[in-house]
Amino acid sequence: MIETCVFKLLIWVFCVFLYFACFSCQFVPADKYYINCGSNENVTIGSQVYLADNLASKYLSSPDNILEATTSNSIPQTDEFGLYKNARIFTKSSKYTFKISQKGRVWIRLYLSPFVFNTYNPSSAKFLVSIPNHVLLNDFKSDSVAKREFLVNITSDSLVITLSPSENSFAFLNALEVVSAPDFLITDDAQGVSPAVKFEGLPTQALQTIRRVNMGGPTVTAKNDTLGRTWEPDTKYLLDSNLARNVSKINSVRYPSGGATAEFAPKTVYGTATKMRSEDDPGSNFNVTWDFPVDQGFRYFVRFHFCDVASNSTNDLYFNVYLGPSNVLPDFDLTTINQNFLATAVYRDFVTSTISSSNLRVSIGPSSFGNSYPDAILNGLEIMKINNSVGSLGGVDTVPSSSGSGSKSNVGVIVGVIAGIAIVLFIVGLFFYIRRKRRLERLHHSKTWVPLSVNASYTMGSKFSNGTTTSAGSDFGYRCPFVAVQEATNNFDESWVIGIGGFGKVYKGEFSDGTKVAVKRGNPRSQQGLAEFRTEIEMLSQFRHRHLVSLIGYCDEKSEMILIYEYMENGTLKSHLYGSGLPSLGWKERLEICIGSARGLHYLHTGYAKAVIHRDVKSANILLDETFLAKVADFGLSKTGPELDQTHVSTAVKGSFGYLDPEYFRRQQLTEKSDVYSFGVVLFEVLCARPVIDPSLPREMVNLAEWAMKWQKRGQLDQIIDPNLAGKIKPDSLRKFAETAEKCLADFGVDRPSMGDVLWNLEYALQLQEAVLHNDPEENSTNIIRELSPQLNNFNNDDSTTSAGQHDMSVVDDDLSGVSMSRVFSQLVKSEGR
Ligand SMILES: *[C@@H]1O[C@H](CO)[C@@H](O)[C@H](O)[C@H]1NC(C)=O
Ligand SMILES: *[C@@H]1O[C@H](CO)[C@@H](O)[C@H](O)[C@H]1NC(C)=O
Ligand SMILES: *[C@@H]1O[C@H](CO)[C@@H](O)[C@H](O)[C@H]1NC(C)=O
Repeated sequence: MIETCVFKLLIWVFCVFLYFACFSCQFVPADKYYINCGSNENVTIGSQVYLADNLASKYLSSPDNILEATTSNSIPQTDEFGLYKNARIFTKSSKYTFKISQKGRVWIRLYLSPFVFNTYNPSSAKFLVSIPNHVLLNDFKSDSVAKREFLVNITSDSLVITLSPSENSFAFLNALEVVSAPDFLITDDAQGVSPAVKFEGLPTQALQTIRRVNMGGPTVTAKNDTLGRTWEPDTKYLLDSNLARNVSKINSVRYPSGGATAEFAPKTVYGTATKMRSEDDPGSNFNVTWDFPVDQGFRYFVRFHFCDVASNSTNDLYFNVYLGPSNVLPDFDLTTINQNFLATAVYRDFVTSTISSSNLRVSIGPSSFGNSYPDAILNGLEIMKINNSVGSLGGVDTVPSSSGSGSKSNVGVIVGVIAGIAIVLFIVGLFFYIRRKRRLERLHHSKTWVPLSVNASYTMGSKFSNGTTTSAGSDFGYRCPFVAVQEATNNFDESWVIGIGGFGKVYKGEFSDGTKVAVKRGNPRSQQGLAEFRTEIEMLSQFRHRHLVSLIGYCDEKSEMILIYEYMENGTLKSHLYGSGLPSLGWKERLEICIGSARGLHYLHTGYAKAVIHRDVKSANILLDETFLAKVADFGLSKTGPELDQTHVSTAVKGSFGYLDPEYFRRQQLTEKSDVYSFGVVLFEVLCARPVIDPSLPREMVNLAEWAMKWQKRGQLDQIIDPNLAGKIKPDSLRKFAETAEKCLADFGVDRPSMGDVLWNLEYALQLQEAVLHNDPEENSTNIIRELSPQLNNFNNDDSTTSAGQHDMSVVDDDLSGVSMSRVFSQLVKSEGR
């Protein structure tokens, strides 16, 4: 009994703690070290205390103990003045070692002054600053005091910063700062610029801040920034300041849910902008341009911050954003992205190719879209250098191999051990408590919550599909207690993990009644995740279809984001195509999988009053059950499609590289045809059994869609198909299939077939294949062709109204919400809408 009480209390305390941690909604760094090197006085800036050098000696291992003060009076009188007055000198290799309790992104900030000290002159210093695998700084040269800022990814539990002076020279440091940064700050979503190939692995690169600019506003100092960053004004970078004007509306800035937060940039940055000076001339046609000095030979991560503080109404502003000569955000439309709210914070990330000049040019200019008044704005800009291929951010070709961990802080170790023991005790306690509770729970289990089986869920689904959209918080019968999920997944046993995605881990699970499930557990810190969690519940509770993965339940207790799906025995389609060593699928099986997933998508597009666009169609989102029946999964990015009187939904570009509709990318306008494009890529993937983007291949082969289209246009697609299929596909079947995939990849959405057409053509390709395998080839194939020829012609027929009826007859309806009814429905709606 006492045991239970104590642990109830502990859990209560823990929950209260979590509550405050989550709801104050400010990022709190797990590790932070601030050192005022060379001075035996603390310096306080804002709320940060920079420790006196003697108090920080436990972090340092150095043969020297040389502390210097400056004699110069050229140090600028800023907040940071106090940090630059003193320096520590290192004549031999020296190390700072910091314990890192939270692995991931960490800021490292070096404060360096070029002004002479008592005896040492920094201009003759020659040194390297490095961390394991990365050189941060190689020779400091500057005319004024400088703060060099790095954002590195730490994977071990300590960070060793090494200062290595050159022979007969020395290194110095005025101040040093090591602070945890939120990992969500740098995600793997940045888009490449010429070539527009995604830059993979951004979250693990070492970055150095080169410029961080507050457009149209004043300097924002570290103490006024949510993450201790400094933002400088943009005026000195403007090419022609006569073309630009400042605007400011700091109090109206709004952070959207699931998008930018104050951690990305504070309101003082989002609330001011530099805009085109176009007020007096509706015929204005010029760019506002900035030139930023950068180092040659590196790639740069560039983040644009936007917030429409310039317009008066929500449909005024369309503009172009150029990075170098590339129009990276053509006809950019902020308000639509923000669901018609002005002054909403938005950022966009890009990675440049290797820069070969000493300037990076950024321009904004009017777009000709929609006859809008010419205007363009930019609120903030960050330019960060990405480490080169040897891991360096300075101009060196080699990086010292990772040096030993130096002297360790005993205090740190002791604190670590105590904290470790406390955590272990807490977890053990929690475990016993939960076990106990579970035993009790099990008694009531069948009464409190019965997992809906897949069959029963149809009724549950229809119960909700007629209402208006439900939010994740509302109680609609799928909610499952956390303890039941814990029990089903053996308390989230790591060895039960069957997948890891952007959203979080996916576990295999089994409820006490034997229902097998897949449990997707979101990372509760991710804002993005919350939005996707809601979308997925809303979408899946409305849709029930044989070819869509069913949602069995969800759990949002204790800020958990858990989704429970029917278990798909055979995993993803992707895993059966390449990379996993699973046996290769036959052509007929592949066709059936394509047909099944086409059916699922077709239902999404047409089976409900408003079309639903999946937005992330890819082979990893097509799952296979124990009979290899295909089901489309992952509705986290789905959007409700256009209303009948509109033709597109304008929205932020999301989706997976290699599958992304180029038209959607260009115009940010979403239609069902974007899914058709992605599905076309899947078709080629199925045929060629290779990744859609494979950077290890020669250039022309990297992108599967481009490569396959090249061969298809030459009529030689058979040259590049999966060798396992060679000789096993009937040429007619291959031709039909390839033709279908090709049409899906048409440049313009209007030229692509509908999902219904795709479905029909795939079925036809299957017929052509089966005719030869099981029957007398001559006789049957002609029969089939005679039987199906009207539809075949329709594929190339522009008159969709007449083709509709014929399609309906041809498609065998194998399920409740199958093709034909919805087809008729969609056609009815179409003709009535006109
Ligand atoms: C910075 O913060 C201080 C107080 O913390 C405030 O008085 C000042 O106005 C802020 N400056 C800006 C530019 O926001
Ligand atoms: C704006 O800059 C881009 C990229 O340099 C250029 O292609 C475009 O023509 C410029 N527009 C105007 C109106 O000068
Ligand atoms: C940055 O360094 C890492 C590790 O040294 C390396 O794997 C990566 O390729 C480098 N980045 C670039 C852009 O070369």
